[in-house]
Amino acid sequence: MAGKPQNQKLIAWVEEIRKLTKPADVYWCDGTQEEYDRLCDLMVEGGTFTRLNPEKRPGSFLARSHPSDVGRVEDRTFICTTKKEDAGPTNNWADPKEMKEHLTKISDGCMRGRTMYVIPFCMGPLDSPIAKVGIEITDSPYVVVNMRIMTRMGQAVLDKLGTDGAYIPCIHTVGAPLAPGEKDAPWPCEHDLKKKFIVHFPEEDLIWSYGSGYGGNALLGKKCLALRIASTVAKREGWLAEHMLILSLTSPEGKTYYLTGAFPSACGKTNLAMMNPTLPGWKLRCVGDDIAWIRVGEDGRLWAMNPETGFFGVAPGTSDKTNPNAMATITKNTIFTNAALTPDGDIWWEGMGIDPPSTMIDWKGNEWTPDSDQPAAHPNARFTTPAAQCPVIDPNWEKPEGVPIDAFLFGGRRASTIPLVNESKDWEHGVFIGSAAGSETTAAAIGLAAGVRRDPFAMLPFCGYHMGDFLTHWIEMERRTDPAKLPKIFFVNWFRKDENGKFIWPGFGENSRVLKWICERVEGSGKSQETPIGILPTEDAIDLDGLDFSKEEMAQILALDKEGWQAELDSIDEFYKKLGEKLPPELPKQLDSLRAKLK
Ligand code: OXD
Ligand code: MN
Repeated sequence: MAGKPQNQKLIAWVEEIRKLTKPADVYWCDGTQEEYDRLCDLMVEGGTFTRLNPEKRPGSFLARSHPSDVGRVEDRTFICTTKKEDAGPTNNWADPKEMKEHLTKISDGCMRGRTMYVIPFCMGPLDSPIAKVGIEITDSPYVVVNMRIMTRMGQAVLDKLGTDGAYIPCIHTVGAPLAPGEKDAPWPCEHDLKKKFIVHFPEEDLIWSYGSGYGGNALLGKKCLALRIASTVAKREGWLAEHMLILSLTSPEGKTYYLTGAFPSACGKTNLAMMNPTLPGWKLRCVGDDIAWIRVGEDGRLWAMNPETGFFGVAPGTSDKTNPNAMATITKNTIFTNAALTPDGDIWWEGMGIDPPSTMIDWKGNEWTPDSDQPAAHPNARFTTPAAQCPVIDPNWEKPEGVPIDAFLFGGRRASTIPLVNESKDWEHGVFIGSAAGSETTAAAIGLAAGVRRDPFAMLPFCGYHMGDFLTHWIEMERRTDPAKLPKIFFVNWFRKDENGKFIWPGFGENSRVLKWICERVEGSGKSQETPIGILPTEDAIDLDGLDFSKEEMAQILALDKEGWQAELDSIDEFYKKLGEKLPPELPKQLDSLRAKLK
């Protein structure tokens, strides 16, 4: 079987791309298990996939990427708007006409010898008021099977489109045409970084990705559609597309709170999204680990929906200690990319919490032993796994209307200055706090300098328009909602270190203690103190029952480091200057007022 389209505009567009890219054949995906299995078998045969031992990891596969293709390429990611200022200073801009001409030129015949797959997918439950349909055309079967885990995909989406529904066109090619008789590579892609292009045309909602088969560069529903394009659509339509996890927390009394959290890559977002609280009686459930689409409900509250159906998580560092629920999720039906392969046909990575076997095959396909000076798994190795398999998936995770938000969390990985938790004084101050977020840099993106980078709302690499306009949109949300029903805003930092470079706060499941205080604040209780930087818990406010954590340590992690804050303010100021005239005036005002208070 194959998918059956009825939409003439779509059929004509697919034909246009076929003529340009010249594949050997065209296949419309139906999204069935049979199709998924067939493509996985095909990739096992072709060497892209290794089937893992079905007794250890049923229905699971390992892929090894080409060493030139291991993560998002921010330098090669473009926003193409007619006016450069609409993309803003934090995005790479290119002229849409010139870029399209260039992509058209290099795409001539780019799928030769390959099958062109047409993937109909929907971000969000099919009946959600803000769900969006996309069509990804790709020459990568790896992309097809990953998209089936990450999105609602197949015939049901074609049926939703009907004869004249709207869709967001997404073109993807690995950029490696095959000459007649040429043997395919296990991971075909363009090896030259400068010839990879991840391109967004927000004025016509078009995505065009050339040369990479990895993650966010290729699974176009995720960062490209659900964040960069969706953020521009959301600005137009009055909602928010955010780089946020969504979780629920239920108190021992049975009251449930929904929290969303924006954290830059490598801050433990997936760990927090499905953490097991150590506090007795508290239950945490996961709605999503990466993206939240947020709209104003008829009740005047903000409602969050997870547009995805899977987790594309960073594998290294994931263990039964750091994330037992992710470990339970990936026991079956999971695609691993760039993990190491054990002799008994299972996977392994650094920080998995178990000793490596005496020999393995590393992510590059080479023999590896514990004496090796290279990691066995790539630091950005990933698992692609169905959200429905998560033992703590929230019962409301697929509700078309989403879940009502009680609190927004912002966070970053900060060794100094930033306290464990800080509540904003009001909405505007909260937007200031989110805009000033920063984090130490990560392996998820290639080629970033080490150090703290300012990452407002964790959206720096994902905002499809001018960051100043984005911040204005956030300021204005207060006027679009019932201000009395707005979520409270908090900044959290699990990563502050002591003078010996040791993390002060134990993190992971113990973070539930901070979340409990946040829920108390939502209720209007929770002991707190006004400080120049925001509302902090008093030193005895956070429930430390059963935890070996001293009063002095709590004082240290809440301490106001005036010198550190001066440097922080200078750095925020520098970033604001970079944003220029479009920065909403409320934010420098907040900065000035904080500077004055810290004097
Ligand atoms: C990711 C990221 O989710 O980099 O991959 O944020
Ligand atoms: Mn992310």
